[in-house]
Amino acid sequence: MKIFLDSSKISEATRWMPVIAGATTNPSILLKDGSNIYEFVKVMGVLPVSIEACGDFVTDAREYSKIKNASIVIKVPLLNTEGGDNLHIIEELTKEGIAINCTALMSMAQVILATKASARYVSLFAGRVEDEGGNSTDMIADCVDFLNNEDIDVGTELIVGSIRTVGNVLDAVRVGAHIITIPPPILKKMLLHRYSLETVRQFEDAHNKLIGG
Ligand code: E4P
Repeated sequence: MKIFLDSSKISEATRWMPVIAGATTNPSILLKDGSNIYEFVKVMGVLPVSIEACGDFVTDAREYSKIKNASIVIKVPLLNTEGGDNLHIIEELTKEGIAINCTALMSMAQVILATKASARYVSLFAGRVEDEGGNSTDMIADCVDFLNNEDIDVGTELIVGSIRTVGNVLDAVRVGAHIITIPPPILKKMLLHRYSLETVRQFEDAHNKLIGG
């Protein structure tokens, strides 16, 4: 299982670098963080960074893919705003050698189609699935099972996104999610534990008494 950072903040990328294997962004994240995506990509170095293509997907994808010394992944939603689909675009960009993260997926059926169109990553939005009463854990388990048993040229991996709680992370790990993209506040919650802090303070106190004689 790999952890991606669901953020475009340079300070967060630097802070969490020991545990992350990539990052995901989207226009809402960029707007909220007020980040410069080009500066962020530089900090991430060789780790894959997903950037969402918008408007003219193909032009946008080709433009971002020109960024040098980086591992750019282009997010393309399965559906466009008109309710049409981007299957041909995903296939075409993949053939050009551009890694695609097919995003905003809310069902296993969509994951299957995005995989067949050769997306390198398929992003299932667990929190949004739960928003509508779906069982995201069962869905992740089924998608992982499907992907692990498919013979896929581009080695498609499932990214579980839209993480709202530490519980969401643990559930995704339990059912074998390949990648979980986690927002910084949830990473912080994973890290902290009141009793760990109390314990290290106890030991520090004992150590000081020992050396104090
Ligand atoms: C990840 O790739 C997504 O952009 C992100 O997790 C979406 O999260 P949200 O549902 O909280 O907007």
